[in-house]
Amino acid sequence: MSYTPKILAFAGSLRRDSLNKKVVRVAAEGARSAGAEVTLIDLKDFPMPIYDADQHEAEGFSEHANRFQQLLLAHDGLLISSPEYNGSLPGGMKNAVDWASRANGEIKLGAAFKGKVGGIMTASPGSFGGLRCLGHLRSVLSILLVHVLPEEFAVTFAGEAFDDAGNFKDAKMQHLIERHGANVAETIRKLKANN
Ligand code: FNR
Repeated sequence: MSYTPKILAFAGSLRRDSLNKKVVRVAAEGARSAGAEVTLIDLKDFPMPIYDADQHEAEGFSEHANRFQQLLLAHDGLLISSPEYNGSLPGGMKNAVDWASRANGEIKLGAAFKGKVGGIMTASPGSFGGLRCLGHLRSVLSILLVHVLPEEFAVTFAGEAFDDAGNFKDAKMQHLIERHGANVAETIRKLKANN
C-alpha cells in the first residue's frame, strides 16, 4: 500500500469569485486523482488579527490563527494559487503565513511549514498572469523550509480562462495545472518512501 499524501490547498485571495480559487481547485483535483487526500480551504474562513508580537505575547494565538496552524501541521504538502498585489503577495495571506510560522505552545518556530512540499501558482486578468508574485511566494516558503517544486504556473487573462463548471477552457492548461497538483502528491510519496 503506498502512502496517501495529505495536501492543504488554498488561494491567496479572499474574494468570493476569485480566479485563484478556481486555479487551486483544479490543482486539488489533480492531486486527488493521484491518490492524495486534499483539504481545500478558504482563507476567508480564517480571519485573524494583523500579526503584532506584543499581542501574540499577551494573548497568544487567536482561534483562527491556531486552526490554520493546526491544519498546516496535519498536512504533508501545500497547493497555493496566489494573486499578485502590486507586484507581490496579498497582505492577508502573508499575515496568515506569518502567524502560522510562529512558535505556539509545544509547536516550534517554523514547524508548521518545515519539510513540506509546495506547488505554487498564480492567476490574473492581465497579460503577466500575476507572474511577479511567484518569486516572492517561493522565497517566503523556501525560508520556511518548504520544498517548493521547481515548476510554477501563471494563468494569464484568467478572467476568460474558465468555463461555467470551473474548468479551464484550454485542455492543455487544465492538464498542466492538474499535473502540478499530482506532482506535489507524487513528490510527497517519494520523500516518504526514502525516510
Ligand atoms: C491587483 N491586481 C493586480 N494584478 C496583477 O497582475 N498585478 C498586480 O500587481 C496587481 N495588483 C493588485 C493590487 C491589488 C490591491 C488588487 C486588489 C488587485 C489585480 C488582480 O490580479 C485581480 O484583482 C485578480 O482577480 C485577483 O485575484 P483573485 O481575487 O481573482 O483570485
